[in-house]
Amino acid sequence: MYKYFAKTQFLGKRVFFLSQCHSTNDEAAKYAKETPDFPEGTTFITSHQTNGRGQRGNEWISPAGQNATFSFLLKPKYIPIDQQFDLNIIVSLGIRRALRKFIGNRLKIKWPNDIYVGDKKMGGILIENTLKGNKIESTVVGIGLNVNQSSFEIDNATSFKLETSKSIEPNEMIENILIDLEEVYAFARVNGLVSLKTEYLNSLYRLNEISFFESRGVKFTGTIWGVTDSGQLLIKSDHNVTSYDLKEIKYLND
Ligand code: BTN
Repeated sequence: MYKYFAKTQFLGKRVFFLSQCHSTNDEAAKYAKETPDFPEGTTFITSHQTNGRGQRGNEWISPAGQNATFSFLLKPKYIPIDQQFDLNIIVSLGIRRALRKFIGNRLKIKWPNDIYVGDKKMGGILIENTLKGNKIESTVVGIGLNVNQSSFEIDNATSFKLETSKSIEPNEMIENILIDLEEVYAFARVNGLVSLKTEYLNSLYRLNEISFFESRGVKFTGTIWGVTDSGQLLIKSDHNVTSYDLKEIKYLND
């Protein structure tokens, strides 16, 4: 198994390789609770996740040994709690920068943080923050990426292999992602989020394209207009721009 993780300053410097676990997010959260002075960047990687969790309470299913399923711990004390969405921007841009080298501009971020190629999902991110007072005490960032899987039960899923006709060791892919992600995270700490927000916006799936949505049972057409600082999606429809939370809006295109 590919286990060379030496090219970063802190992300993935300490790695726990687990042959099997329920969820790397749960492993990371348990570790953070038991070891409050954990080194930032401690990473948990498994080749077989049996109870993977996704956003909105969904499950994340990934066949053993084929894909990347991993989580790492951050201490983003410099991010105010009302700007938690900054973490979504940082993480999704880190992944996009790493994968774009292989896949090119078709690689998009579907708001808030799905990794898309064309109209298909290649990966997802589950960020779980632990708050203390008005600070983010610790963060678990979980990433699931379809790497070498070549068939799916659902239509709107894809993988690195299907998009590039190449296979890559999932751990090599993880290493590439950690390198770019560390760069974005470190940049944000020093320079703030202004330029990263522009990059995020320019990477958005279906930005400025007329698309179909559903909110509170009502279907409508609209255009993605932007994202607010607190992470709500802005959609322009009938000359009005409305903001939506994750639970309030559904894309109907894919
Ligand atoms: C989503 O798109 O719904 C987010 C999926 C996140 C899945 C990853 S796999 C590694 C980590 N452990 C989990 O239980 N979930 C995340």
